[in-house]
Amino acid sequence: MHVRVASGDITQTETQCVVVNLFQGVVAPAGASGAVDRALSGMLTELIAAGDITGKWGELTLLHTIGRALAAPRVLVAGLGTADEFTIDRVRDLSANIARLLGARRIRDAATITHGAGLRALDAESCAQAIAEGALLGSYRFDAHKQPEEDATRLKTLTIVENDQAKVAPLTRGAERGVIVAEAANFARDLANEPSNVLTPTEFAARAETMAREEGLGCRILDRDECQQMGMGSFLGVAKGSQQPPKFIVLTYRGAGDARPLGLIGKGITFDTGGISIKPAAGMEEMKADMTGGACVVAAMRAIARLRPAVNVTALVPATENMPGGGATKPGDVLRAMNGKTIEVINTDAEGRLVLADALSYAVKLDLSPLVDVATLTAAIGIALGDVAYGVFSNNDALVGRLRASATAAGEKCWEMPMFAEYRDAIKSPVADMRNSGGRNAGAIFAAFFLKEFIDDRPWAHLDIAGVDFVEKEKGVLVKGSSGIPVRTLVNLVLSYAPAAEAS
Ligand code: BES
Ligand code: MN
Ligand code: ZN
Repeated sequence: MHVRVASGDITQTETQCVVVNLFQGVVAPAGASGAVDRALSGMLTELIAAGDITGKWGELTLLHTIGRALAAPRVLVAGLGTADEFTIDRVRDLSANIARLLGARRIRDAATITHGAGLRALDAESCAQAIAEGALLGSYRFDAHKQPEEDATRLKTLTIVENDQAKVAPLTRGAERGVIVAEAANFARDLANEPSNVLTPTEFAARAETMAREEGLGCRILDRDECQQMGMGSFLGVAKGSQQPPKFIVLTYRGAGDARPLGLIGKGITFDTGGISIKPAAGMEEMKADMTGGACVVAAMRAIARLRPAVNVTALVPATENMPGGGATKPGDVLRAMNGKTIEVINTDAEGRLVLADALSYAVKLDLSPLVDVATLTAAIGIALGDVAYGVFSNNDALVGRLRASATAAGEKCWEMPMFAEYRDAIKSPVADMRNSGGRNAGAIFAAFFLKEFIDDRPWAHLDIAGVDFVEKEKGVLVKGSSGIPVRTLVNLVLSYAPAAEAS
C-alpha cells in the first residue's frame, strides 16, 4: 500500500472515497469535515440531527454522493468518540478499521483528513505515522497458501490530504516512518504465520539473508559445525532431535562508527513439539509461531536499516526445531552452554531458554550492550497477563523506562514483572549449575532467572511475548494470526538511543 501526503482541499480530491471524521456530541462538523458538509449542502449536519450519525467510537458511515457536489463519489464518516478519550492509539486503530472496510467494499484508492491532528498532545507527525501504521497493519492478510479469492481487493493508495501547507512536511515524515515500521511488523507476521514445513531454520535464515542484502545489513549464518566450535552446547542440545539443520542468524546494522552495539536477541524455534517432554496434541499447531521473537528481531532490523538511526545494532537468532527424534536430548541430560555453565534438562519443552542461553552468551562475547531478548518463552506469562500486555523482566530500571516509553508510543502494552532474588532458588540443580525448569507457579519468572545466568550482569531486558504473539480475532491493528508485537516497540527503543536529530 502507498500512503501519500498531498496539500489541497479534500472536497476537490479525486478519489474513490474521502474519509472525514466527527467527535461524539458535535452537532455541526468543523474543519475539513465541515468543508465536506458545506459542499454537500449540510447533509452531514442533517444526518447528525436525525441521529443517523452520532460520532460514537467505532461508528463508520459510508455515504454515496455519486460525484455530485464532491469530486469523490463516496464519503466515509468515522466516529472518533469523545475528544477526552481520543488518543494516538485510537487514530491507529481507526485507520485500521477504515482500511479494512474500504477493502471489503473493493475501494482501492481513498483520501483522508488527519484524524486527531490539532488535538492537544497529538502532533501532526505522530498522527500521520499512526494513520499509515493502522492502514498497513489493519489490511494485512496472510494468503500465501490460499487460492486467490476472485473479489479480494485491498486498499492500494491512501492519500492524507492537508490544506495547511506548513503541516505537509511533518505529515510526510510521519507517514513515511509509519509505512516503514508497519511493513516491518507485517514482515514479522509473514515469517510467524508461515507453517513450519515451509519456514524451516534454513528457510528462516535464507529470508533473513535476502532481507539483509536488500537493505544493506551485514549478515552471517552460522551452521551446526561453527556453533559447535564456539561451544554452543545448549543450543545444539535442542537441535539434536531434529532432522532440520540448525542455523544461527547474525545481522548487523552500523550507523555509529565503532560505538558499542545494542544487542537484539530473538528465540527462533521454528516448531516446538516439546521434544521428548512432548506437548499434548490440542493447539500444538500454534507452535509454528515459536520463532516469533526471532522474526520480530529480524523484522525490526529491516526498519532500522531503512530509518538509518545513528546507533549500532546486532541481532542474534538461534533457529532450530524442537523435535523428539532418536538423537534428542532427554530429561536428566546435562548440557554445557557457551559461557561454560552447565544445565540439567528437566523438561525438554523448556527449550527456548536453552537456545537463548547460548545466544546471550554470544552477545556477551560480542560485547553487545544493552541486551534485549524477545521470546515466546512461557505459557505462564499468558496466565499472568493474558493477551493484553507482554512481560518485561530486567536488571536495569533505565532500560525498563525506555522500553515502557517505546511500547506506549507504539500502542504495544508491556508490564514489568518482579525479579526478587528469592525466585532464583527454584532453578538450583543437584548435578549441574542450574536446571531448566523451576515448576509451574511463577514459571515466567524462573525462565527469566535462567536467562539472567548468561548476561554477565550487563544491562538486560527479557520480553516474554507468549501471551500476545498470536491473536484469535481481528481488533484494530490486529488481525487473526501473528500480531507482529513487539516489532514497533523494538524500533522505537533503538531510535531512542540515537541522537535526536538522527531519529527522524
Ligand atoms: N513455546 C513454549 C511457550 C508457549 C506456550 C508459547 C504457549 C506460546 C503459547 C515454550 O517453549 C514452553 O513450552 N514453555 C513451557 C516451559 C515449561 C516446560 C517449564 C511452558 O510454558 O509450559
Ligand atoms: Mn517448549
Ligand atoms: Zn517453545
